[in-house]
Amino acid sequence: MASFAPAEAAAPQGDPFPLLGIDHLELWVGNAAQAAFFLEHAFGFHHVAYAGLETGLRDRASHVLVQGTVRLVVTGTLRGDTPVAAHHARHGDGVKVIALAVPDAARAYADALARGATGIAEPARAADEDGTVRTATIAAYGETVHTFVERDGYAGAFLPGYAAVEPAGPRGAAGGPVFEDLDHVVANVEAGRMDHWVGFYADVLGMAQMRHFSDEAIATEHSALMSKVMADGTGRIKLPVNEPAPGRRRSQVDEFLEFNEGPGAQHIALTTRDIVATVEHLRVRGVTFLPTPDAYYDDLPARVGPIDESLEDLHRLGILVDRDDEGYLLQVFTRPLGDRPTVFFEIIQRRGARGFGAGNFKALFEALEREQDRRGNL
Ligand code: FE2
Repeated sequence: MASFAPAEAAAPQGDPFPLLGIDHLELWVGNAAQAAFFLEHAFGFHHVAYAGLETGLRDRASHVLVQGTVRLVVTGTLRGDTPVAAHHARHGDGVKVIALAVPDAARAYADALARGATGIAEPARAADEDGTVRTATIAAYGETVHTFVERDGYAGAFLPGYAAVEPAGPRGAAGGPVFEDLDHVVANVEAGRMDHWVGFYADVLGMAQMRHFSDEAIATEHSALMSKVMADGTGRIKLPVNEPAPGRRRSQVDEFLEFNEGPGAQHIALTTRDIVATVEHLRVRGVTFLPTPDAYYDDLPARVGPIDESLEDLHRLGILVDRDDEGYLLQVFTRPLGDRPTVFFEIIQRRGARGFGAGNFKALFEALEREQDRRGNL
C-alpha cells in the first residue's frame, strides 16, 4: 500500500468552496467479495480495482466497481478488531464514505474546519507510478464521513495502493443494465436534526437548498417524514436529508434509525437512460424491488399526462412516474441491499424533471409500510 505523508500547503483560490462532484461512495459491508459480485453480475458494474492482502493490506479488502460516472467501493474486514468490523457490527452493511472531488483537498479541509466541521483525517498525499492523490476527511451525519479527493490527473485504476483488476472473461451483464450517473444520496437523521444537517451542508460545504423541493412534509395514513434537498452550485451533488415526523405509527425513517443504530445514508439513486430495459435486466438477475400497488396505475395518466413509456410496461415492472414543471421522471426502489432494513438503491430516469418524485412519496411510503408491517416494525 502506498504510504501517506502530510500534504504541502494549499495555494489560495477564488471560489469559496469548489466541489467537482461525488468522487465515489464507499460501503463498509460484511462480505466485500460477495457485495462486489452482486454489483458486477446483477447491477452490471465493472470491477476495476482491488486492495487487500495481495496489495499489502492486512486489515481489510476493498473492491472498486465502476459504471458510467458512478464509482462504488465495497470494503470488508479481514480481522475482528478493525474499525470496519466494529462499524459493520453496529450498523450492518452501509455507506461509510461519501467522497467529494475537489480541486484542493487541503484547502477544502482547512475551510471546512474553519466553518465548523469535525476533522476525521488530516490532509495526506498518496503517490505511485500513476500519479498523486491528496485526500482529507471530515465527519458527516452518524458515522458517515466526507472524504475530499484531489486527483489532479491521477491515471491509476482508483487510488494509489489499489491494483487494477483485469476483466474476467465474458460477463453476463452484456446488454444488461446501464447506469450513467449517481443522481443523489439521501441521509436519514434523527427527529429534529434535519435542519442541523441542512445547515451543515450550507455553512460548511457552501451548498444550497433546492428551491422546488423546500420543506416537504410527506405523510401517509400512518406516519410522516420531512425532507430537504441540498445541492452544490452546479447541481452535480444532490444530498436530500430526511427526518421522521410525528405520525400515528413509526415511519420508515424511524425503522432505518433503529436498524442502522443511528443516522446514515438511506438510498443511492442511479440514473439510467432506459429504466424499462434496466429494470427488466435487473429482475432477470434476481434483483427485487418494492412492489407498487396496482391502484397506483389507475390514476397515473390523469396525474402525469402523456409520457413516452408504455403504461403496461411501467405497471408490469412497478415503475413510478412523477411530473413537475420541467418534465417528468420515472423511478423504482430496490429492497434493502443487506439483511437489515436500511440502505437500498433507487433507479431513476429523468425526462426533464429535476425533482425527486414527491408526488410518488405517498404511494411509495404506503408500499414501504406494507413491507415494514410484514417485518413487525410498523
Ligand atoms: Fe431518491
